[in-house]
Amino acid sequence: MKIIVLGADGYLGWPTCMHLASLGNEVIAVDSYLKRKIAKETSSAPLVEMPGLPDRADAYFDLGRRGKIKVYEGDLADYEFMSKVMSEKPDAVIHYAEQPSGPYSMLGHKEAALTLHNNTGTTLNLIHAVLEHCPECHIIKLGTMGEYGTPNIDIEEGWIDITHNGRSDKFLFPRQAGSFYHTTKILDTDILWFYVRMKGLRVTDLMQGPVYSHFTDSMEGEEILGTHFWYDDLFGTALNRFVVQAVAGIPMTVYGKGGQTRGYLNLKDTMQCITLAAENPADQGELRIMNQFTEDFSANQLAEAVQRASKLVGIDAEIDHIANPRIEKEDHYYNAKLEKFMELGLKPHLLNDDVIVQMLEYVKKHKDRIDPSVVHPRVNWRR
Ligand SMILES: NC(=O)c1ccc[n+]([C@@H]2O[C@H](COP(=O)([O-])OP(=O)(O)OC[C@H]3O[C@@H](n4cnc5c(N)ncnc54)[C@H](O)[C@@H]3O)[C@@H](O)[C@H]2O)c1
Repeated sequence: MKIIVLGADGYLGWPTCMHLASLGNEVIAVDSYLKRKIAKETSSAPLVEMPGLPDRADAYFDLGRRGKIKVYEGDLADYEFMSKVMSEKPDAVIHYAEQPSGPYSMLGHKEAALTLHNNTGTTLNLIHAVLEHCPECHIIKLGTMGEYGTPNIDIEEGWIDITHNGRSDKFLFPRQAGSFYHTTKILDTDILWFYVRMKGLRVTDLMQGPVYSHFTDSMEGEEILGTHFWYDDLFGTALNRFVVQAVAGIPMTVYGKGGQTRGYLNLKDTMQCITLAAENPADQGELRIMNQFTEDFSANQLAEAVQRASKLVGIDAEIDHIANPRIEKEDHYYNAKLEKFMELGLKPHLLNDDVIVQMLEYVKKHKDRIDPSVVHPRVNWRR
């Protein structure tokens, strides 16, 4: 297949490019480096800074890996640029190109506006560019499990059958986000559903949980092919942050009671899910929504897992319950369905001591690069 990856310089984007190329697909990588720019503005940085996309693509090729990755650099919130990219007429497009941080979106008006305009803007531009150049192209869009929030009922995969006053219909599952970023993801889903109904697009919207780890089969052994590993309060995901805190000797920052439960997945399983979605496309005129995670953990369970694994490498990691900077339930029902990817053949890489120890070893190697000043939450939902 010819596949375009939007947001290819990102945590998920770069490993996805390599993974899809290694399977024999023709891959086109696109990014504006927006993430690097807003990270600099907020004094955040990945553990190890990687070169830009052309150099990453050259390194991939020079190491003799399968396939070649073509690069476009530009802003996908600019329709002309999006249209130029999509005139490549791909079979599938993976849309990662959004501002992905809840805390960043809660910083203030400037950050909320950037998140809204960028996220809904890139989605709208993509839809129109697909309609203009390749209406049969399969749009694979990254949503988030955070769109559903933590309802007191089971979380279905995108849709729910409702019977009301004796009549029944199928609707998008009710959504209630916990940050403004997550709200923009809900808006994306509504925009996609509108255009699927009106124009018959072919769309898969993936409700993904927080991703952890740094390693994929395509990078194995070559740090130059690694992805950005974020650990700060704005851009790091929970498990990655706890691992860095353990290595840095900072007590792990569990927010409040720590009963907040979410569905998590290993970066390797993001690669698997994207591949399964691309190889088994949605129908024309379908908005297919799939939940993308492998296991549920509470914040307490994650911190305890890191504490246990740390002991194996001689680290005595501590856990600290700090005041919760977010507005969220700390003790709640959580039961999200995971059926569609399992039916497509997903083989989960589950979390165990070995996975955490591998992450700990990687972080230990770069311990001198950890900036302790960006570990504690800098954004409070109430202020
Ligand atoms: N990482 C996770 O745990 C996770 C979980 C659920 C959903 N997601 C979603 O998956 C997607 C990728 O996440 P990630 O962690 O790789 O984020 P990331 O910030 O590392 O990657 C996103 C990339 O998109 C680029 N980008 C953003 N706006 C752009 C624009 N207008 N033009 C061109 N490029 C642009 C950024 O520069 C960045 O490189 C996001 O949409 C995110 O919301 C991520």
